[in-house]
Amino acid sequence: MILVTGGCGFIGTNFIRLWLAEKNEPVVNVDALTYAGNAENLSDIQDNPDYYFEQVDICDASAIADVLKRYRPRAILHFAAESHVDRSITSPEAFLQTNVMGTFNLLHSALAMWNTQGQPDGFRFLHVSTDEVYGSLGKRDPAFTEQHRYQPNSPYSASKAASDHLVRAWHHTYDLPVLTTNCSNNYGPYQFPEKLIPLMIERGLSGESLPVYGDGNNVRDWLYVEDHCHAIMAVLEKGTPGETYNIGGNEERTNLDVVENLTNVLQMMKPREGGYRELIRFVKDRPGHDRRYAINPTHIRDQLNWYPQIDFCEGLRRTVDWYLSNRTWVDRVKSGEYRHWLDHQYRS
Ligand code: NAD
Ligand code: TYD
Repeated sequence: MILVTGGCGFIGTNFIRLWLAEKNEPVVNVDALTYAGNAENLSDIQDNPDYYFEQVDICDASAIADVLKRYRPRAILHFAAESHVDRSITSPEAFLQTNVMGTFNLLHSALAMWNTQGQPDGFRFLHVSTDEVYGSLGKRDPAFTEQHRYQPNSPYSASKAASDHLVRAWHHTYDLPVLTTNCSNNYGPYQFPEKLIPLMIERGLSGESLPVYGDGNNVRDWLYVEDHCHAIMAVLEKGTPGETYNIGGNEERTNLDVVENLTNVLQMMKPREGGYRELIRFVKDRPGHDRRYAINPTHIRDQLNWYPQIDFCEGLRRTVDWYLSNRTWVDRVKSGEYRHWLDHQYRS
């Protein structure tokens, strides 16, 4: 079986759902259920005999060692992290704890398990990271390759950069068969509505202002989450231990362009008198706001034959459709009810 950390978050949820639909192999989900972890995301598969859940903090060394001992996964896919840049600016401690110490703890425990098992060839530790570790690009700079120097600018990206370096060191020093992926901005179903796209959908539907930071000309490369999950599967299956793979959507867009596109899709699917565009407001910029991220996807395309299948227009349409069709999920996230789901579910 494989072990996924952070499977109750946005990307982990999509990954586990896709894995169980497409692969014939059990998965154990290790998640502490922070505010970003929603056990309800996977409530419909909780009785699937190929799905196991452990509510464990990756920083808890003995609990992680115990989980590894009981499940003996053939691969660890490490998604768990504190992931929101704005939160990292106001409260950085949790980012260092989970992203750095949590990753260290997992590596340490994974290495112990791998050594105890006689270092099986097929074992993999796949670390899911971000393009933000490379820092900010100018308008005409070439996109990030895997050789781009690390230049993280936010507490979030600095903590992810540190975790990438630990993963690299565990390969170089101890030969642990690691793989690292650095991905661009994801969007799609189950994304917590603090991130740009779901936040704008929800505020728009409520008739609230759509807050665009600064001049709205910061550029991100957008990738539909299902494409990201398939890329991770390809790296797990065919990636070379010790290598890094940049994953992007070939969809560089300014934030203003993203929000304007979103207002058009919303108007098509849920028409509002006067439209949604009039709700856009330019607000105070994020401190240290990176100007541009862009991924050069040549390596993963040439080595693993992976490229994104879902373009931005289609992905946005699917995303808005999902948020419109899953109002209970949204309401329970907004009210905080989702945090009590496990208690209700398992109360005797
Ligand atoms: P998320 O914030 O939606 O989910 C994080 C999950 O990790 C939650 O379920 C949370 O409960 C869990 N978690 C947090 N701290 C934990 C701990 N100490 N122990 C166990 N579980 C813990 O994040 P996401 O958007 O799904 O991102 C997943 C990974 O992908 C992260 O490593 C992130 O850095 C990376 N990434 C995200 C994006 C993006 O656009 N969302 C882009 C590139 C890379
Ligand atoms: P976000 O989804 O927080 O991802 P990241 O900062 O990791 O790229 O934000 C995406 C972009 O949208 C980023 O440039 C900041 C901007 N943004 C806004 O303009 N307004 C908002 O309310 C939010 C949450 C983000």
